[in-house]
Amino acid sequence: MKKTMTFALIAFGTAALAHGGVKDKDVMARMEVMKAIGDQVKVIGTMAKGERAFDADAANAALAELAVHSAQIAPLFETPAQDPKSEALPIIWEQWDDFAALAMDTEQTASALAGTITTEVDLRPALGRIGGTCKACHSTYRE
Ligand code: HEC
Repeated sequence: MKKTMTFALIAFGTAALAHGGVKDKDVMARMEVMKAIGDQVKVIGTMAKGERAFDADAANAALAELAVHSAQIAPLFETPAQDPKSEALPIIWEQWDDFAALAMDTEQTASALAGTITTEVDLRPALGRIGGTCKACHSTYRE
């Protein structure tokens, strides 16, 4: 569990830096969707840590939004766009089906969890499941 939280924080922390100076518009678009995904996970993460007041509606909305954004991962990464600032590894396009399946896993996990948050106790397990899907992809396909 701790590992997942740490991972999530690392993912948020690098977003601003990674974005700067990107010239390729396809690379920018896929970074933007990842940033949006990170922002939704952050809603749940900050609530889980007690840094933000618990709000079941906001948590469920973040999960629903996460599912919508995750559905955009495969379409946005399909073009093997390059940029010196990109952290995407070329192996994505050599193992496209696996990459697309991992994206779908994030979408389906978020979609299944949306609406299930009723008390604060539900936050951490949900975060753990979501974080696992991010990590499954990043560990292979992101620098
Ligand atoms: C199917 C693969 C995949 C999944 C699933 C995935 N990511 Fe990513 N993510 C990537 C890749 C590849 C990059 C690097 C993109 C680039 O730099 O061109 C990235 C980059 C990012 C970035 C940095 C964006 C930026 O500004 O450069 C954040 C933040 C991020 N991901 C968060 C998440 C979170 C949170 C999840 C889970 C809810 C997630 N990602 C799920 C593949 C994935």
